[in-house]
Amino acid sequence: MKLLALFVLAAGFTYGQSTPSTNLKDAYKGLLRIGVAVNSQQFEERNPTDDAIIAAQFNSISPENALKWQTIHPQPDGYVFDSADHYVAFGEKHNMFIIGHCLVWHSQIPMWVFRDANGKPLTREALLERMHDHIRTVVGRYKGRINGWDVVNEALNDDGTMRQSPWYQIIGDDYIAKAFEFAHEADPKAELYYNDYSLENDAKRKGAVEMIRKLKAAGVPITGIGLQGHVKINGPTAEKEAETIEAFAALGIKVNISELDVDVLPRTTRSNSAEVSTNAAGGAQSNPYTQSLPEEMQQALAKRYGDLFEVFLQHHSSMERVTLWGLQDGESWLNNFPTRGRTNYALLFDRQDHPKPAFAAVLNAVKTDRETSHKKQKGDK
Ligand code: G3I
Repeated sequence: MKLLALFVLAAGFTYGQSTPSTNLKDAYKGLLRIGVAVNSQQFEERNPTDDAIIAAQFNSISPENALKWQTIHPQPDGYVFDSADHYVAFGEKHNMFIIGHCLVWHSQIPMWVFRDANGKPLTREALLERMHDHIRTVVGRYKGRINGWDVVNEALNDDGTMRQSPWYQIIGDDYIAKAFEFAHEADPKAELYYNDYSLENDAKRKGAVEMIRKLKAAGVPITGIGLQGHVKINGPTAEKEAETIEAFAALGIKVNISELDVDVLPRTTRSNSAEVSTNAAGGAQSNPYTQSLPEEMQQALAKRYGDLFEVFLQHHSSMERVTLWGLQDGESWLNNFPTRGRTNYALLFDRQDHPKPAFAAVLNAVKTDRETSHKKQKGDK
């Protein structure tokens, strides 16, 4: 079955009513890069089926966990680069635009980072020096090879105020500017992004726009924003997505969708937040599709993806990249968030690595977009 899926993908397949003639990265060429977050099985080439699809369909990769502080710098004097080296080599082998994720975040970071040898909180100067060392070492190692970095991740609360992370509490709000300066110093040619979730929500977006406006005014080398795009089947609306892209594009920075997936399961929390520390209980009702996704939902998911990509295409001149947060449904973090052990269907490929109707919808969106602009051009003449 898996071999059949590969053959069909390589040959240019027919799915449902559409007959896309090409793959994602070629279909979107000249408009948007199409990326995927990869796990260690994939970039260490231990999953040939996934790898063939990744190579055929995508022209950018993000490391799902391999470059996080906890993975790469677990001890004060101990960097562990094996996994990250494989990740970068995999991207180079396939000529991809390689993303580094992420340098400064409050999560997946060991607690020693914020403490001295006696377990006391570090001073501002000492923490800045530690941040500088980390960024210089990690960005410096991949200088000219990693093309874009998520420099600061998730620094804002849902209401748009600064998150009271240890970074903020110890250094103060210029920790963000410092992180960008250190990254720029280590690789002046790399693109540097601020990355966050729920930026479609008015309050948080307002806070982020204000923060970036100030950074730009102070000459901080920020080149883009990553709208994570962990969305639900029914929201935020495509209009809200458009408004969000436009708000950041107006600041003169590039807009990327950095972690796209679509949660189809019932909500088990009050908030829509992608805050990773959330862990909610859920009964059988919260996990209704353990065997398969009903056709009606499958089509709704396809429509949702199609609508979102239509918006991305309309804004392609302000954007560079759309990255899916994972290749196939079985590997998605959304099977364990915010409730562990559920069966979600968030991505473009199913658990057997077959393309879903959502995949065809993403291809159809660009096909339609190209046909429409072609007709418009003809009409303009
Ligand atoms: O590596 C350990 C393994 O040794 C252990 O056996 C296993 C047992 O649970 O856990 C493994 O670590 C897991 C890790 O992923 C690697 O698979 C952690 O428990 C798990 O919490 C961690 O989840 C990651 C999450 O970030 C943690 O913050 C997800 O894979 C990853 O998709 C997710 O990605 C984040 C972005 O970095 C930032 N934006 C939100 C996005 C989704 O949460």
